[in-house]
Order: sequence, then structure tokens, then C-alpha cells
Amino acid sequence: MNVLLTGGTGYIGSHTSVVLTELGHLVVLYDNLSNSSDLVLHKLAQITGQPIPFVKGDVRDAELLTETLAAYRIDAVIHFAGLKAVGESVEKPADYYANNVQGTISLLQAMRSVQVKTLVFSSSATVYGEPQYLPLDESHPTSATNPYGRSKLHIEEMLNDMAASDPAWRMACLRYFNPVGAHESGLIGENPNGVPNNLMPYIAQVAAGQRAELSVFGDDYPTADGTGVRDYIHVMDLAEGHAAALAFLSVTTGWHAINLGTGKGYSVLDMVQAFENASGQQVPYKIVARRAGDVAACYADPKKASEALNWRATRTLDDMCASTWRFQQSQRLSVKS
Ligand code: NAD
Ligand code: UD1
Repeated sequence: MNVLLTGGTGYIGSHTSVVLTELGHLVVLYDNLSNSSDLVLHKLAQITGQPIPFVKGDVRDAELLTETLAAYRIDAVIHFAGLKAVGESVEKPADYYANNVQGTISLLQAMRSVQVKTLVFSSSATVYGEPQYLPLDESHPTSATNPYGRSKLHIEEMLNDMAASDPAWRMACLRYFNPVGAHESGLIGENPNGVPNNLMPYIAQVAAGQRAELSVFGDDYPTADGTGVRDYIHVMDLAEGHAAALAFLSVTTGWHAINLGTGKGYSVLDMVQAFENASGQQVPYKIVARRAGDVAACYADPKKASEALNWRATRTLDDMCASTWRFQQSQRLSVKS
């Protein structure tokens, strides 16, 4: 199958491109490089042994998208492109609606114009809002607490309307829990600009000595050790989930929301301990106040993915930490050389 990956040079897109290429799909990456670098293309060629076609473009450019879909005879699109920082979305909501919602509208227009009707969308567990029960299954009510989350909800609803309007659409909204880790080669991984917002990249930078200590946001949650609990999922498991979603859509029409998580929750202190074990480094931390907007615990019911996609996460917490550390180390070496 020929598959276009919008946001394909980013963290999750680049890992997914490896999995799809290794399965024999022709993958084309489309990205405006606003939060990634084309240097990743060399790494992808190194891992897969072949060059991966890349088009530099914005998803709001429907014309270029249409040309790209036609030129590469694309059969399906995986739509990763978008902005994803919760705090920034509160400060710049218009940017989030423009990139995420407007970007998806131009993508849908371009796809419709060339009759490409298979779409996998990067959604998020953030669409469940404050959990009313755990684990979170796909029937849990949805809500949004910030513009980032609201943009994801709007897109999911828009895709649902499109699928209802034309039975030829095949759409999967994959609700990711907390993606972490890196490809086993250590060549690609998550490389956030500036101070990381998310836990795992922050821990990795503390272990590497780039930051003095981790601030643990609250130890008074109603969880086993008082710190926040999340469902961390290895990015390579997540990438394989996309391949499974494409296979599912090849035999199913309509709109589907599917969790991609492990079903297991780990606390912040579990993560610190696991990272220390995997890296052999100390991760000093201090307890500080809760972060506004955080929930105590959030983890998936992964049953639907297992039944519909025949997919489940198989990698362990140690795999997540060890691969993150390997990538962190390789980054340091490449900066020095
Ligand atoms: P990322 O920032 O590494 O990748 C997104 C890519 O999209 C980047 O390469 C960026 O340059 C590109 N992009 C942004 N706006 C664009 C535009 N207008 N036109 C073309 N390209 C554009 O992020 P990621 O972690 O790989 O996330 C991929 C998707 O998954 C995003 O939609 C994100 O919201 C969603 N998601 C991520 C997480 C997570 O924790 N990483 C969790 C849930 C959902
Ligand atoms: C965050 C986003 C969420 C997004 C998800 C993607 C917020 C409020 N939520 O979720 O919308 O879908 O990323 O992965 O930004 N923590 C610390 N110290 C840190 C960083 C985090 O203690 O320096 C704690 C948090 O309080 C939380 C856990 O670590 O309990 C995980 O945090 P993070 O990695 O930011 O992910 P989420 O908050 O789950």
C-alpha cells in the first residue's frame, strides 16, 4: 500500500515510517518541519536501508497535498501533523485550531478530490477529559479542558460527520495514551526543543546530567505512592498499532475510535526507579506542587484494539527506558562529534 504520513518526520511519524517500510509499504513523508528536522531522513534510510520520499509542505496547503496524493498514487493517509503542547495551546489557541483543525479540513478536501478515503488520525486520551472511571474504554464520555484537547475532539467529530456523509470513508481515530521510548537503534527518538513538558524526556535529561533534578508534580494524589499514574506506551508498539489500523481499515468502512495503550499504569516514582535501573544513572528529584490540569490517574482499556486490530503492546517499561537512554546517549555523541 502507498501511505502518506503527514507530520511524518516527527516523533511518532518517523517510528511509524520504519514499521510500515519494513512491512513492504511505500511510505511518503509530508511535513512543514515546524517541530522536526529533515536530518531524520538520513537516520530512517540508515535503519530501513532505503531512502524514504519526503515532501516539505504544510497540511493547510490543499493544492500541494492533492498533487502529492496523486503523484505517489497514495492509498491511505496517516495524519500525525499538528501542534501538541497543552500549555502553548492555552496561550495561542488560534494557532492550534489553524494547524490542527484547519489542517485536517484541507487534508480531507485534498483526499476527497483524488478519491483517497482511508485515514488514520492521531488522537489522544486527552479527549476523555477528567476520568469518570478507570480503565478508560472508548465509550467513556469525551470532553476537553484546553484548546489542544478541544482541537482533537473537533477533528474526531468532523471525521465522524464525514464518514456518516459517505459510506466509502474508512477512518480510525487512534487515541494514544503516553508514548515514550525510541527505536532500538538509538538513531531516532523524541527530541523536544527547549525544556521538556513531558515526564520521560525530562527524566532522560536529568539522568544525562543536562538538568539538575526532576520536579515531581504532587505526591498527594489518591494513588499508591501519591504521584500521578499514566499508561506509558513504547513508541514502537504505537507504530505497530498504526500498521494494524491500516490492515483493519482495508476490510472495514466507517468511523472508529480506538485506544492505543497498554492498560497498565505507572507512577512518576515508578518511572524514576525504572529509568535509574535501565540507565545506571541517578535521577535526583524534588516534590513540588501539583501541575494545573493534571489528573491523578489515566490508563486505557486496550480490549477494543486487541479485538478489532489484533494488536497489543508487548514492550516493557524497561524497554521504554533503555531505548530512551540509548537515544539520549547517541544524541550526546552526535553533538560532540
Ligand atoms: P511531533 O511534533 O514530533 O510531530 C508532529 C509533526 O507535525 C512535526 O514533525 C511537525 O513539524 C509537523 N507539523 C506540525 N504542524 C504542521 C503543519 N501545519 N503542516 C505540516 N506539518 C506539520 O509530535 P508527535 O509526538 O510525533 O505527535 C504526532 C501526533 O500525535 C500529533 O498530532 C499529536 O497531537 C498526537 N499525539 C501525540 C502524543 C505524544 O505524547 N507525543 C500523545 C497523543 C497524541
Ligand atoms: C500530557 C498532556 C496531554 C497529552 C500527553 C501526551 C498536559 C497537562 N497533558 O499528558 O494532554 O495528551 O502529555 O503524552 O500537559 N510530571 C512530573 N514532572 C514533570 C513532568 C511530568 O511530575 O516534569 C508528571 C505529571 O504530573 C504526570 C506524569 O508525570 O503525572 C506524566 O506527565 P506528562 O508526561 O506531561 O504526560 P500527561 O500529563 O499524562
